[in-house]
Amino acid sequence: VNFVEAIARKRDGLELSHEEIEAFVQGASDGRVGDEQLAAMLMAICIRGASAGETQNLVETMRDSGALWRVGADYPAAVDKHSTGGVGDTVSLVFAPLVASCGVPVVMMAGAGLGHTQGTLDKLDAIPGFHPAENRARAFQLLDRCGVCFAAQSEEIAPADRRLYLLRDLTATVPSLPLIVASIMSKKLAVGAARLVLDVKCGSGAFLKTRKAARELAEALVGVAHGAGVEVRALISDMTQPLGSRLGCASEVRAALAVLEGKGDPRLRDLTLELGAEALTLAGHAPDEARRQLATRLADGSALAKFRELVEAHGGDPDEKQLARPQTAVTATARREGYVTAVDAEELGWIAVALGAGRRTSTDEVDPAAGVAVHARVGERVSAGRPLATLELGVRQVDGEGLRARAEAAFGIGDEAPAPAPLVLERIGGST
Ligand code: URA
Repeated sequence: VNFVEAIARKRDGLELSHEEIEAFVQGASDGRVGDEQLAAMLMAICIRGASAGETQNLVETMRDSGALWRVGADYPAAVDKHSTGGVGDTVSLVFAPLVASCGVPVVMMAGAGLGHTQGTLDKLDAIPGFHPAENRARAFQLLDRCGVCFAAQSEEIAPADRRLYLLRDLTATVPSLPLIVASIMSKKLAVGAARLVLDVKCGSGAFLKTRKAARELAEALVGVAHGAGVEVRALISDMTQPLGSRLGCASEVRAALAVLEGKGDPRLRDLTLELGAEALTLAGHAPDEARRQLATRLADGSALAKFRELVEAHGGDPDEKQLARPQTAVTATARREGYVTAVDAEELGWIAVALGAGRRTSTDEVDPAAGVAVHARVGERVSAGRPLATLELGVRQVDGEGLRARAEAAFGIGDEAPAPAPLVLERIGGST
């Protein structure tokens, strides 16, 4: 395959052959294709899209670029959960111990931050000593020991996605349906859990913003999962404002702990319960029973105990006091009185990245202490001067005043309260 010709074909809107897709994926995993050509192909796919056949091909070749763990063969009840990427989306850190505390094993291939979103892997990294599994033997050991495994992409699993994920982040090619489907499903199928719960985000803080695009993405993800014999449920959930009220690595670990302690952000708790109920239903529970069991495990402390157990099993220190804290803070306040009509999740996500909670270049270090605390939600009434968000500054030198102005502008304030938006917009999928 002449890779320049392959790029040109996609640039011109033509369909890539199986051999061209193989050259792309193989070249990404073994390094034979350079960053500039991979980036050009990513941009061509991002702009031109891909057919269902090309997307399926991409998923399968990316899945096969590394090992297959076949978790479902040894742990048929194990469930995997993945989000298409949101802001203040701390669900994974609560979902995993909560669902595992109900007796359903959880395996999750976590990702680093992408674009304006903060990644689960970076959040876990804020826990001193925490090491996600990087190979099958370790993943199975963790599942045996505590019923939960957080895994990280390595050379072993979907290595093509590992390289493309980084490049997409640096080349503004994240918001592409086929690239998101290939990225998520190649990892899911390589890990090989037989059950999957998907959280497809919709709104300003999501990669694909509209309801139509979110539905297409959910249907494509569900279609690929079904095609591979995976039982799957997908929720389309609201991302018109941050999900939880904390953005940033250490801060989101604290936010997860707060929910596990029976307190915490209600939106984060509610969506985790919805996704958890889907997981338990896949495991054969009746929906009402599933909800009751999840609520009980939160209330009686067993989900919190499971969190501590899983952190220790992954080599981490579960003591909250060990989490990094910001060095200073800057407060963004309301410029006028009124109702909060919008909270621009993407903008707050980018502000968190600028503060150090994410990477702007591949060599950037993530600062676990940096982040944004959101104090006002859509529909709330605020008075002039009321704090809307606290920018938590870590070690990175930033223009605090400039970021404060951007944070203030991220909150729309008007005279009328907007109609409340539901947290779960749609449910897609069913068992195979
Ligand atoms: N999560 C992923 O793993 N990949 C994407 O492309 C988006 C969200």
